[in-house]
Amino acid sequence: MTERATAIAHPNIALVKYWGKRDIPLNLPAAGSLSLTLAGIRTRTTVLRADAYSMSLGGEEIVGKKAERVFAFLRRMQALSEYKGGLRIESDNDFPTAAGLASSSSGFAALTLAADAVLQTEMSPQDLSVWSRIGSGSAARSIFGGIVEMAAGERVDGTDAYASQVVDENHWPMSCVIALTTTGEKPYGSTEAMNHTSDTSPYFGPWIESVAPDVHEAKTAIMGRDFAHLAQIVERSCLRMHASAMAADPGILYWNGLTVEVIHHVRALRKGGLGVCFTIDAGPHVKVFCAQSDEDKVKAALADLPGVQGVIATRGGPGAYLV
Ligand code: PMV
Repeated sequence: MTERATAIAHPNIALVKYWGKRDIPLNLPAAGSLSLTLAGIRTRTTVLRADAYSMSLGGEEIVGKKAERVFAFLRRMQALSEYKGGLRIESDNDFPTAAGLASSSSGFAALTLAADAVLQTEMSPQDLSVWSRIGSGSAARSIFGGIVEMAAGERVDGTDAYASQVVDENHWPMSCVIALTTTGEKPYGSTEAMNHTSDTSPYFGPWIESVAPDVHEAKTAIMGRDFAHLAQIVERSCLRMHASAMAADPGILYWNGLTVEVIHHVRALRKGGLGVCFTIDAGPHVKVFCAQSDEDKVKAALADLPGVQGVIATRGGPGAYLV
């Protein structure tokens, strides 16, 4: 009997964004997406058999709504298992949580993998991706390493909405340098914000229609290691996602002034000949993709910008694994 299991998962950052659901209870995406899984930052999660459900994050006990979301997810997984007792979760991130740094992607991927081991549900990588998706849409992608594609799927039960690897992290050694533009947690969570966007933004439909062609084109750019082409797609996907959110009523604006400064800086660096492009998630930080050989230059250029709170250098990395 497996009494405890520990899993490590890395966050992933979308090159072509996911923003909007086709089914809220099953957490099914309205369109596909494409991402890079990042080594250099990670979530480590241990799941133990226990008398009751409880959870800690970074050594602090978590109660209330945040914990209930996780327990509800685990109860659903546990319905597949013969084990009927409680579970204790001990998780920690080596990067800021809930700041728009994709902590839910690594969080639910690590949790699903560790829970699968303790509950002995013996899931395939595809099943693990489906279950991670139920926890958080982007987590489906963190099960796999390198460049990963998430399928929107068509089935109403969501069994075809899972991620798969396009190429591993060695195909095109890429870095993602994160410029932290503030400290603290993001003002609105991604689930409520994307549902509000689909309910009220006149740009939501056009945004969703733009995603499948962008995924297709980005995969072509990646296969051909064509950075200029990839940069064009990555930036337009990010800006269209945020445009759809900004056009909601009331509008959702994750950026601060420095976010915009960093965008301009990245474009100036590119004009100066450096292969860089930016993306932004549900928070104010800016993630900058570049070749691993340019990582130090990009780090220095971002760290030098007045107001930047710090830079975190990450690289394409592996999928989730048990330790
Ligand atoms: O996984 P969620 O529900 O937190 O959604 C993530 C949404 C974005 O990070 C903004 C985009 C993406 O594709 O990761």
